[in-house]
Amino acid sequence: MRIDIITVLPELLQSPFEHSILKRAQSKGLIEVTLIHLRQYGIGKHRQIDDYAYGGSAGMVMMCEPLDNCITDLKKVNSYDHIIYLTPDGQTFNQKLANNLSLCGNLMLICGHYKGIDQRIREMHVTLEVSIGDFVLSGGEIAAAVVVDAIGRLIPGVLNDETSALTDSFQDNLLAPPVYTRPSEYKGLKVPEVLLSGNDALIDSWNYDQSLERTRKIRPDLLDLDDT
Ligand code: 6GU
Repeated sequence: MRIDIITVLPELLQSPFEHSILKRAQSKGLIEVTLIHLRQYGIGKHRQIDDYAYGGSAGMVMMCEPLDNCITDLKKVNSYDHIIYLTPDGQTFNQKLANNLSLCGNLMLICGHYKGIDQRIREMHVTLEVSIGDFVLSGGEIAAAVVVDAIGRLIPGVLNDETSALTDSFQDNLLAPPVYTRPSEYKGLKVPEVLLSGNDALIDSWNYDQSLERTRKIRPDLLDLDDT
């Protein structure tokens, strides 16, 4: 999968892709993440990329021309399955969307700043608008890192058995069960007996019950979803 990210703060995005699973995915050639510095497309001596909002509202808006030129250049080289604008007024990102996007070949992500990007860029180029939750971040970069991490780990070959995505929270609209490792007793707190039993069927059933109980308690809304 190829992921091109348009940003005014590439430094903010470098580190998440240089560590752990996303780093391994890139060195295995399973993902290729490219950061495109929008400033290169800025206008004039000062490489301007934002301007005052029409209508007198406070805050700056990312201008059409730098974004249009940047996106158009990228489109000349690749055809994108989706051009995603990261914005708090987008559809809420979730595991189902991550699953769907992990099947794509080429994605372009646009990180917004200030009051956002000119509406005309959304109309001309953007095919999907994504928010990572009901709160406001100062820019789209951290949201982009979240989305790429969630998608990247689902690409076949990125995870090994130990990190398998199959038992993640949310894959079946259930939260994950509690997990334990050695020692079997710590400061008087014991690992549930069933997990030491070696009886796989019993353990599976216990894990399922725990998942269900946790979900009922913490996220009952998940049990009402029908998005299979
Ligand atoms: Cl994608 N961007 C920004 N700026 N804030 C957010 C967000 C995205 N998702 C939630 N809050």
